[in-house]
Amino acid sequence: MCGIVGYNGTMQAAPILLEGLEKLEYRGYDSSGLAIRDGAKDIEIVKAKGRLRVLAEKTDEGMALAGNCGIGHTRWATHGEPSETNAHPHVSEDRNVVGVHNGIIENYQELKEKLQRHDYTFYSETDTEIAIKLIDYYMKKYREGPVDSIARAMTRIRGSYALVVMFKDYPDEIYCARKDSPLIVGVTEDASFAASDVPAILKYTRNVYYIGNQQIARLGKGTAEFFDIDREAVEIEPSEIKWDAEAAEKGGFEHFMIKEIHEQPAAVRDTIGSLVQDGKIVYGESGLTDEIIRNTSEILIVACGSAYHVGLAAQYVFEGLARIPVRVELASEFRYRNPILNQNDLVVVISQSGETADSLAALRLAKESGIRTLGIINVVGSSIAREADHVFYTLAGPEIAVATTKAYSAQLIVAYALAIQYAYVRGQIDEDRYTAMIAEIQTLPAKMERVLDDKERIQWFAAKYSNAKDMFFIGRGIDYAISMEGSLKMKEISYVHSEAYAAGELKHGTISLVENGTLVVGVCTQNRLFEKTRSNMVEVKSRGAYLMGLTSYGNYSIEDTADFTVYVPKTDEYFMTSLAIIPLQLLGYYLSVARGLNVDKPRNLAKSVTVE
Ligand code: G6P
Repeated sequence: MCGIVGYNGTMQAAPILLEGLEKLEYRGYDSSGLAIRDGAKDIEIVKAKGRLRVLAEKTDEGMALAGNCGIGHTRWATHGEPSETNAHPHVSEDRNVVGVHNGIIENYQELKEKLQRHDYTFYSETDTEIAIKLIDYYMKKYREGPVDSIARAMTRIRGSYALVVMFKDYPDEIYCARKDSPLIVGVTEDASFAASDVPAILKYTRNVYYIGNQQIARLGKGTAEFFDIDREAVEIEPSEIKWDAEAAEKGGFEHFMIKEIHEQPAAVRDTIGSLVQDGKIVYGESGLTDEIIRNTSEILIVACGSAYHVGLAAQYVFEGLARIPVRVELASEFRYRNPILNQNDLVVVISQSGETADSLAALRLAKESGIRTLGIINVVGSSIAREADHVFYTLAGPEIAVATTKAYSAQLIVAYALAIQYAYVRGQIDEDRYTAMIAEIQTLPAKMERVLDDKERIQWFAAKYSNAKDMFFIGRGIDYAISMEGSLKMKEISYVHSEAYAAGELKHGTISLVENGTLVVGVCTQNRLFEKTRSNMVEVKSRGAYLMGLTSYGNYSIEDTADFTVYVPKTDEYFMTSLAIIPLQLLGYYLSVARGLNVDKPRNLAKSVTVE
C-alpha cells in the first residue's frame, strides 16, 4: 500500500501534492518523493527517506520546485527496504518516463530479465522501476504514444498496480493506469488530479472518476479521457463524494479497524500472490531452500499478542501436515528461560511491526546460539526483517488500528504456505494434495468476502449483548487457537473480561464461573472435534450460559444447542482460522462501538511495543 497524488493544472504543483500526500500518509510513510515539471523543461525529482515531513522540509514545503504539473508518492515498502533510492518516483535512464506506483508486480523477476536482455540496468530494488522501464521499452520499440506503450506494458504485467506516469515528450499530460489497486481522478475547470484515495483531492473537487480495472486515463489541464487495455476510448461517469474529510480517510468506514477488517481479503490475496507462482510456492528472495527444509529438526515459533496466536494456529497446520515438531513460545518468556535450542532448529519470529522488543530479543538470542531464524514480517526494513536470516513479508499494508486484523490474516497465509511447503518437500503430502491445498488457499479471499457480507447479524448480536461482563470462548485444536484470538480482540477493544479455554479443559475449573446469562462462544470448525465441543457447549448451556455457535455451513445440528449461530464457508480444515476469525473480529468491534469506546486506540495499548 502506498499513496499517490498527481496534479496537472495552473497552480504550483508541489505544495498541492505535498498536501495531498499528507492526507494519504496512513497508506505509507517510510519514504516519499515528488517529480515536478515546468513545461518542456527537464523533470525535477526529489526524494527523501522517512516521514513526509522530511520531504516537505527538503523542498521548502514544495516552494523549491517550480512547475504546475507533477506526481508524488508516499511509500510503504514491499520490494526493497525504505531508502531514498527505492523511494518513488522512478525513472527510465534517459528520463523519458517518470512514474509512481502502488501495488505488487508479481512477475517482476521475469520482466527484469527480459529488460536486462535489452541492455536495461537497474538502480533500485523496486518492482516499480521495472514497470517504468517496461513502458519505456515499448515506447521505443514500437514508436507509439503513451497510451499504447502503457497498454502494452499492462498486458505483460501480472499483479496489481496503480501507476501515474509522465513522459518527457508530453509535457502537459499525466497518464494513469490501474488494476486491482485504487486510483481515482478528479477534474476541475483548469486542473486534473489523480490520487490513491479521496482525501487527497477532496479540497479541490467532490466529483471523482473511478478508473476501471485495466483502464488508462490521460489527464490534461482540466480534462480526463479514459481508455481500455485495447486502447479504445471508454466513458466513465463521475461520482459525487458525500463523505466529510475524516470519513474519507477511512474510506467511508467509521473506524480504521472496520476498514482494515474489510481489507483482509485484499491483504490475503496480495500475500498469496507473493508466495504462489504457477500453482507452486516460491521462496522468492527469502533465501529458504528445500535443503534447509529437509534438514530442520524442530520449529520454534516465537511472537507476542496476536502474532503468537498465529503461531498457535500454525502449530496445528505444521504438525498435522508436515509431521514436524513445533513449539510455540511467547517471546517475553522465551528470552528469559534459557531455552534449549538445537543446531538444526528453525526459529520463526512472527511480527507485524518487526520492532516488538521481546520478539527482537528472542530473535537475537536464537542468532547468538547459532540457530537459523526466519521472520514473518509486515514492515519491510524493520529490525527483525533486517536481522533474520530469512524473511517472508506479509503484504497487508500499513495497519493503523491498534488491534491487528489484516496483518494477523496475512501472517496466517505465510504460515500455511510454509507448512504446505515443509509437508511437500519432506514427502508428507504428494503432488496432488500439494496442488489442491495451494488452490484451496487461493479461494480464501472470496470466502472471506462472503463472511464479511454477513456482518449485520453480528452487529445485531453485539448490540444485544453490549452489557456483557464476562465472556468465554471455547474450542478444541485449531478452534482453540481461533478462540484465543477472538478472546483477545474482545478484551483489547471492548474491555469485556474474556477468556479462551480449551473446551476439554472447562470441567477442570472454568465451568464454575458459568452462571445464568454468561456469554459463551463455541467454535466448532473441525469435523473430527465437532461432537466433542458440542457436548462441552451443552454442559455450559445446562448451567445457564447463553451460547453463540461458530461453525461452517452444513453443520446445522449446532442450532439444537446454540442460541445464536454464525456460519462460515467450508474450506480445508487447516485453513479454517482465516474464515472463523472474521466473525470474532466483528464481534469485538461492534461490541466496542456499542459501548461507545475508542475502537482504534484502546486505553493502555500501543500498536508497536518497543519496550520490554
Ligand atoms: C501489540 C499490539 C498487538 C500485536 C502485538 C505484537 O501488543 O497491540 O496487536 O499483536 O503487539 O506486535 P507485532 O508488531 O510484533 O506483531
